[in-house]
Amino acid sequence: MVVVAILAAGRGTRMKSNLPKVLHPLGGRSLVYRVLDSVEALSPSRRIVIVGYQGQEVTTAMQTIPDLEFVEQTVQLGTGHAIQQLLPHLEGYTGDLLVLNGDVPLLRTETLKNLLQIHQAHENAATILTAQLANPKGYGRVFCNSENIVQQMVEDKDCTAAQKQNHRVNAGIYCFRWQDLAKVLPHLSADNAQKEYYLPDAVDMVSPVMAVDVEDYQEILGINDRLQLANAYDILQSRVKEKWMMAGVTLIDPNSITIDETVELHPDVIIEPQTHLRGNTVIKTGCRIGPGSLIENSQLAENVTVQYSVVIDSIVHANTRVGPYSHLRGHAEVGANCRIGNFVELKNTQLGDRTNVSHLSYLGDATVGTRVNIGAGTITANYDGVKKHRTKIGDRTATGSNTVLVAPVTLGNDVYVAAGSTITEDVPDESLAIARQRQVVKLGWKRKG
Ligand code: UD1
Ligand code: CA
Repeated sequence: MVVVAILAAGRGTRMKSNLPKVLHPLGGRSLVYRVLDSVEALSPSRRIVIVGYQGQEVTTAMQTIPDLEFVEQTVQLGTGHAIQQLLPHLEGYTGDLLVLNGDVPLLRTETLKNLLQIHQAHENAATILTAQLANPKGYGRVFCNSENIVQQMVEDKDCTAAQKQNHRVNAGIYCFRWQDLAKVLPHLSADNAQKEYYLPDAVDMVSPVMAVDVEDYQEILGINDRLQLANAYDILQSRVKEKWMMAGVTLIDPNSITIDETVELHPDVIIEPQTHLRGNTVIKTGCRIGPGSLIENSQLAENVTVQYSVVIDSIVHANTRVGPYSHLRGHAEVGANCRIGNFVELKNTQLGDRTNVSHLSYLGDATVGTRVNIGAGTITANYDGVKKHRTKIGDRTATGSNTVLVAPVTLGNDVYVAAGSTITEDVPDESLAIARQRQVVKLGWKRKG
């Protein structure tokens, strides 16, 4: 049985922000939310967030997460003091306590599972996560014997010059046998360089304590300032891109591409430079996306191409070509084998298969059949200043260039609309609609004038 405690009471001064540090978003999700996510698979019996500085904001932001508990540390006297606040809440508890830092968001669940497993298999009083860092500055140092049994932990600021040479650092992730920790917590002292109650001092007071090195040191990097936040984003992005490249996706110029962790890609998708894939997006085999495109919360079926375009909250069926310079939004759905061309905007519009909207059009709130040809510059006038209205277009219908369709209006199947028409009334199947002034030519007009 394991209870999780997340330390999130510190000020985060170096962020220079009005937003509490642990609420800063990293790839769309807050730091503390990511930490919570990393423990989910461990099925902890309780999850407790220790809040303090701007605690109300942190609590409010996480209110919707079920069964999350908050414990307040009213003054921030150190990490040991923060964990002391748990004493009244965990009275009589006999399981393990996993302590995580709210500002260490890149931890993998596997790493935590491994830590817990070693902790329980060896029946340690405490097991701590450590890393070998090329530049250990700022981190607490961990001194072990050859069996990884911890002899001593010393904070960076309390280290002698010789101790600073040790590159093995405390990641700030601990697994404690709670009963052992609870006994020593009241005896911490603040007699150190920072005049704080250190949690590592409590580690020194129990035994045996084992250190486990993390395989990938990047997992334990903490976020203290905006530079580290940006670096963490890079690390997250590398993880995501590596995963998809290994799964058969080609990324051309990966550094110029961003992909949310929530996106799903299939083998033989090609992502061109300057392309951004966000949210709940799925892209099927054979698609070629980019350059210069944004796809958000959208589903693209097999062999779709998108160039220099924005597709948001929309669905595109197989073999359709989008762009350059198209904008699909508001639950647009485009059928298979369609062509959505240059400078076209589709909003809340459904197109059947083999329908083309090739040039300079706006279709809003329209339902369009199959094999329709929307002429260059066709516009739906869907808004009367108060309400939006729908336009319906049947199968095999063609609109001429510069057609305006004033909604609500319906064009049947096999309809032709003459170029330059402003259509205000329904057009039945198999008819031709012409709604423009007849051309007048005044012969010899210049000479007379
Ligand atoms: C801490 C460790 C250090 C370790 C490092 C890893 C101590 C004394 N030192 O140092 O050994 O190498 O983490 O990142 O623990 N917090 C509270 N209440 C407080 C103070 C801090 O909740 O009174 C929270 C902070 O919000 C933060 C976490 O504890 O999430 C760590 O505190 P921080 O001050 O950043 O400790 P470090 O100096 O990084
Ligand atoms: Ca820190």
